[in-house]
Amino acid sequence: MCGIIGCTGVKCASEILYKGLEDLEYRGYDSAGIAVLEGGRITAVKKKGRVYALKRAAEQLCGTSGIGHTRWATHGRPSDENAHPHTYGGFSVVHNGIIENYAELKEELIAEGHTFSSQTDSEVVVHLLSKYYRGDLKEAVLAAVRRLKGAFALCILCSRYEGFVAVKYRNPIIVGAGGEALYAASDMPALAGLAESVAVLRDGQIAFASDGKISFCNFSGEPESLTFSPVPAAARGARLCGFPHYMIKEINEIPAAVKNTVHAFTDDKCFSVISRAAKKRGGFKDILLCGCGTAYHSALAAAYFAEDILGVPARAETAGEFRYRKSAAGAGTLFVAVSQSGETADTVEAARAAKEAGAFVLAVTNVPYSALTGIADAVVPVRAGTEVCVAATKSYCGQVAALALVIASLKGGSVYPRMIEELKDIESKCAAAISDCGVEAAARACASSSGVYFIGRGIDYPVALEGSLKLKEVSYVPGEGYPAGELKHGTIALIDGGTLTVAMITDRKLGEKTASAVEQIYSRGGRAAVVCASGCAPKTLLERAEFFIEVPSCKSCLSPIVSVIPLQLIAYRTAVILGRDPDKPRNLAKSVTVE
Ligand code: AGP
Repeated sequence: MCGIIGCTGVKCASEILYKGLEDLEYRGYDSAGIAVLEGGRITAVKKKGRVYALKRAAEQLCGTSGIGHTRWATHGRPSDENAHPHTYGGFSVVHNGIIENYAELKEELIAEGHTFSSQTDSEVVVHLLSKYYRGDLKEAVLAAVRRLKGAFALCILCSRYEGFVAVKYRNPIIVGAGGEALYAASDMPALAGLAESVAVLRDGQIAFASDGKISFCNFSGEPESLTFSPVPAAARGARLCGFPHYMIKEINEIPAAVKNTVHAFTDDKCFSVISRAAKKRGGFKDILLCGCGTAYHSALAAAYFAEDILGVPARAETAGEFRYRKSAAGAGTLFVAVSQSGETADTVEAARAAKEAGAFVLAVTNVPYSALTGIADAVVPVRAGTEVCVAATKSYCGQVAALALVIASLKGGSVYPRMIEELKDIESKCAAAISDCGVEAAARACASSSGVYFIGRGIDYPVALEGSLKLKEVSYVPGEGYPAGELKHGTIALIDGGTLTVAMITDRKLGEKTASAVEQIYSRGGRAAVVCASGCAPKTLLERAEFFIEVPSCKSCLSPIVSVIPLQLIAYRTAVILGRDPDKPRNLAKSVTVE
């Protein structure tokens, strides 16, 4: 999952590309590179590491057309030679995705005398272009893309063409126009501020951008047309606005994310879309919620309250597993695909598989023009705004709010209007949780622990999973999220004086049960702490806890929106205490567009 960008018809391409790569860096930051066309010659600069490592070299370039790339390494370690663009035979290419048949193509090209300079899968594209070029760029591009298998979004520069070519298959690419200038990028925020109008390429489409015009064709070379529309306001590039990091800024935007998501649900009449679809099928026989990482955790929370509220079987699955098993999704299934980016390959393909199996596919996503919305039968918008930090925070809370409204819509009657009212209250409860100052001591305790385990029962279990994921991905402190009842069946062997266990308790009925799990930890010399809704945890437990944080109590199905906030703040502070970059954790990227 890399970020790619292209431009032509501009005064200084390298300046535009460098700025665009800064906006795309959350998609991968193993290396970066730029290639520009100047006087019929391609000049490329590329470097291992962050985009700013490219600054000095990029300032030496200019050019009127160019392409750029920020990388998340899949094939070949992060290095200067594996960085994109790959340049060969008068062509230069940047790629997002995976070329699955690259090894056999590389072997064929080497046998024909081509010399490769990287270990990447992507480099085969530039060699295929130079192999098939006989003076007609379109023919060369068509011949090259027809040889590729896998997923590929490409931007191509050719020394004999004053412009760029963009290609889409599976991975996202958007083209844009602004005055005489033309652009392409992996996502909208990189085009906001540059393009006035944009068009999202569909699978199997190619765009030729030159001389103020963009023409389109499919992989058979037949002309195609695309509708341009203004850049969506929500895609505006994000700025830190005085915050030290996007993570803490985006946690502070949670109340607005919940509020805007509720408004969008009512504005887009999602209630009637969902109840109509259910009516048409005589009601859904089962509900299958799917996602990856944080999105899977919000899906799992929704599965808990869907069964409570609707009394029909509901389960959550990780998309990567769902894709490859004979699923039970069928005509009676409501398949809810949850994804912040709407581009996560496993979730997109899981939705495609469920749709083929006859399920009604509902996309719950923060990106209205994403691939997932193109597959879904209906879309429930999360309106959390652009989320830059790799660790998802406000989008999680928006997802749980949207999923609660989906379930309430299926129940209908007074449940739906009541849910809207409850969600209005949640905004102030989130604000109260964000302002809690007990986080600093908690973060210091986590930073000095050899491992941190999060436990919970019922709806607190998916929140425990999310708390553990947040801490691991931004602070690199090892640990696990666990059903409180499971600890004694194995993981308790890891408990000692160096580990810390955080118990989640937002349901008074389960308080005592979780407290006994904590007692077992104390009896092994372990340390424990508590995050609970006010009045839900036994007093004795709080007295012995290394720290405890209370959040405002609320309706059980909405409690994950509030109780996750101290866990997000603890993860953020622990990362800062340990000197990590909370916005761009190592080895990660914001949307995982490869398998
Ligand atoms: C969460 O903090 C991570 N960035 C990651 O687990 C993420 O939730 C996962 O990759 C799914 O992304 P999506 O919501 O964009 O599909």
